[in-house]
Amino acid sequence: MTLDAQILSSLRETDGGPVSGTDLSQKLGISRTAVWARIEELRGLGYEISASPHQGYRLMNVPDVLHADDLLARLPRKQIIGRDIHVFQETTSTSDVVERLARDGVKEGVVVFAESQTKGRGRLGRKWLSPARKGLWFSILLRPRLRPQDATQLTVASGIALLRAIRGHTGVEAVIKWPNDILVGGRKVAGILTELSAELDQVKYVILGIGVDVNLNASDFAPELRKIATSLKIETGKPIASRAELAVRILCELEHDYARLRAGNFLEVADEWEKNCATIGQRIVVQLGRRSVRGTAESLGEDGTLLVRSEHGHLEKIAGGEISVES
Ligand code: BTN
Repeated sequence: MTLDAQILSSLRETDGGPVSGTDLSQKLGISRTAVWARIEELRGLGYEISASPHQGYRLMNVPDVLHADDLLARLPRKQIIGRDIHVFQETTSTSDVVERLARDGVKEGVVVFAESQTKGRGRLGRKWLSPARKGLWFSILLRPRLRPQDATQLTVASGIALLRAIRGHTGVEAVIKWPNDILVGGRKVAGILTELSAELDQVKYVILGIGVDVNLNASDFAPELRKIATSLKIETGKPIASRAELAVRILCELEHDYARLRAGNFLEVADEWEKNCATIGQRIVVQLGRRSVRGTAESLGEDGTLLVRSEHGHLEKIAGGEISVES
């Protein structure tokens, strides 16, 4: 952990209580002057840290910024997802950054956040709106031991993890739409883009790109998007005070479901996913390039594909594409 992360985690441990400069300097193995310099640096980033000569430092307020050290300090030590975190003020796409790290052989679990993206991308070649400091735009590098045809399991696991985190943090009644859009009141509030590099029988790495519309206003969306997209702020009627807290919750939920996958418990994950997926049981049309399949979404297959009973009675395995629900 970096010095800043250690300072922030020590200040948090006392729940708003003071920590003396001497204690910090002993814990970190640096001089009290060096502690003071780090505190000044953190103040410059917007952290309100009070200092009193007798009691020491207190964390009074945390700004709504994403700070790699702060995020690291809030995560459990042994966690894989978030073992290393980078935050960019702006980048093209966080998934581009993670791809470069993947090619350089970086270990799984690294997470790259950006306060804004200039070329955010969504599924099916769509653009992903990523305005500065209004959302959570991040990508995660994973190196799961999966066959390429089972990679959909990861999509399913990340969808249910994201749903749990959003519901738990905000209380909104969110549901999943196949494959892993998170909808509130029928409008999309978050999405996941899974990109994969694989050999014939083994996944090399997966880039999980996650976008959550946190504090966007209706005016941030283009008029044609307003009918289909929303944000947590719009749905709860108030801004989400700490995007960092929500980010940490998402990373912890993802860790939980990634562990379930690694332990071979995909069926348990799939079961939870099915119970929370608005698509199951619905009559749908799946657009797969030029081909379309019309039928009823029955369940999730063992490999994570959607099983659709077609109009002709066949069971079709759907691994991607765009679905619309028929009324
Ligand atoms: C979707 O179409 O629903 C998936 C959207 C994924 C957007 C995220 S934002 C962070 C990461 N970087 C990108 O360019 N895309 C993903």
